[in-house]
Amino acid sequence: MGGQPTIDYGGGRGNESSADVSYGKGLDVGTANLLAATQDANGNVVVKSQRNAFIDIEQNDFTRNMLTKMGVQYVILNNKMIVIGDPAFDLANIYNRETRRPMADGMISPKEADAMPIEKLLVDRLLGPPQKKGEICYFSIPGAPLDFDMDVTYHKGMFKDLLGSLGYQAKPIHEGYAVVLSELDDDEELPFTGIGVSCGGGMFNICVAYQAIETLAFATTRGGDWVDQNVARVLGLKGSRATALKEKGVDLRNPRTREEQAIDIYYRELIRYALTNIADRFSNKQDTPNFPAPVDMVFAGGTSRIGGFIDVVRDELGKMDFPIPIRDVKRAEDPLTSVARGCLVAAAADDEA
Ligand SMILES: Nc1ncnc2c1ncn2[C@@H]1O[C@H](COP(=O)(O)OP(=O)(O)OP(=O)(O)O)[C@@H](O)[C@H]1O
Ligand SMILES: [Mg+2]
Repeated sequence: MGGQPTIDYGGGRGNESSADVSYGKGLDVGTANLLAATQDANGNVVVKSQRNAFIDIEQNDFTRNMLTKMGVQYVILNNKMIVIGDPAFDLANIYNRETRRPMADGMISPKEADAMPIEKLLVDRLLGPPQKKGEICYFSIPGAPLDFDMDVTYHKGMFKDLLGSLGYQAKPIHEGYAVVLSELDDDEELPFTGIGVSCGGGMFNICVAYQAIETLAFATTRGGDWVDQNVARVLGLKGSRATALKEKGVDLRNPRTREEQAIDIYYRELIRYALTNIADRFSNKQDTPNFPAPVDMVFAGGTSRIGGFIDVVRDELGKMDFPIPIRDVKRAEDPLTSVARGCLVAAAADDEA
């Protein structure tokens, strides 16, 4: 990791011939979503995503016909029809079931024996084949959690092998560092300097970087799923219903119903919890960098999409004695694709090196 990324993604290469293929791909391995970022022949970034979920359906004439009519692809695994990704979500609603999830809390789920074959199908569908032998693919991994005894070694190894079996040279990158690479590139004096936070379904991933060098990366193990579980519990709802309510367009500055009030209460607690943990980590350790000037803190990930997120972060930061001086708090322009784009920045820079 580290190294100064030199790639200017997203345009400016339109006149180059298509023989000048841009090598390197990025993969955001998330509990809720898997995303692939690639560059087309014109140097434009293309991001594809799928829900990281699947559902199994009993095989019979009726179900086979139904899937064919709906145009939904399936594979057979252990004598069951398996539908993966976004269509699994739609089917779960039709059947009033929950989807099965290959990952939990930022890593391969210990409860899903079928997790890896499903992940391979999804990743293959998203990335396609490598454009050259051993094309580099950077994939996101979580940092070590501060608040939970969890080890990333197995998760990292399994995804490295999976990408290797698809023909890629796979390299891990911390999720928070990927946010730094995609979002903190516009300061001319100190590019790629500051704090990147990816707010996901299972975790918050935090990285502190100084001039593109990753100095610190870690995670906290509460994310959007934690809000959903708690809201579902206090309101007596199914988890998926709580998720849908939350994603529908709640504004933390103005909760209008009892449901929105519950979401607001748990969201504020989630943000407080993350910021307090981050502050503690910075205060207690020798390895926290001393920046010459206040730095930006940028938030990405699906959980940062809720209305008023940045206002609540600013509120909470204002109430605490945060150990690193912050210049600006901002949200990524496209929070859902930020990590995948950051992985691509790293891959492209690595291929040019
Ligand atoms: N508009 C929205 N408002 C609130 N939450 C949202 C919105 N859109 C998505 N989310 C939430 O974002 C989360 C998923 O975000 P993301 O795709 O960044 O996570 P992930 O990368 O898959 O998870 P992780 O990084 O923890 O492994 C889910 O909890 C989802 O409910
Ligand atoms: Mg994520």
